[in-house]
Amino acid sequence: MHHIGKIEAADKPGFYRELLAQAEGLLHGERDAIANAANLAALIFDAVEDLNWAGFYFLKSERELVLGPFQGKVACVRIPVGKGVCGSAVAERRSRRVEDVDAFPGHIACDAASRSELVVPLIRDGAVLGVLDLDSPSPGRFTPEDQAGFEALAALYVAASDP
Ligand code: SME
Repeated sequence: MHHIGKIEAADKPGFYRELLAQAEGLLHGERDAIANAANLAALIFDAVEDLNWAGFYFLKSERELVLGPFQGKVACVRIPVGKGVCGSAVAERRSRRVEDVDAFPGHIACDAASRSELVVPLIRDGAVLGVLDLDSPSPGRFTPEDQAGFEALAALYVAASDP
């Protein structure tokens, strides 16, 4: 079993450097996309404070995201591209950082406790594969530093996993 230690870091960039290093170790030697998504969701949920949901949605057709491995409460299974925070990250091919989900038109409330959200698209060779989705019970939980950290984790996941 891979050992994961508690992350002690003075600041957010240091925290994400350490989290990325732990994720590299965790995914090393395994290229199965579902297994890696499952372990990465568990690592994130365990290591990152103030989250109530962390996980993946995968594009199963051009029009729809389907729920993948996650940690947190049960979630909506299918999200149309262009809908909600996840669907807009796919349609716009960019990360969406939402400080107040109640103010986001079309936000899909899976867990009523969610107050802010960060969604990072998974992109391989210019094609969107899905998203990494993080929810927090605190408003404004995610900063640009969190976004940069999770974008690095998403890139690691894509590079470390077979299509
Ligand atoms: N809130 C998301 C839906 C997924 S759940 O948060 C797990 C959205 O608006 O796309």
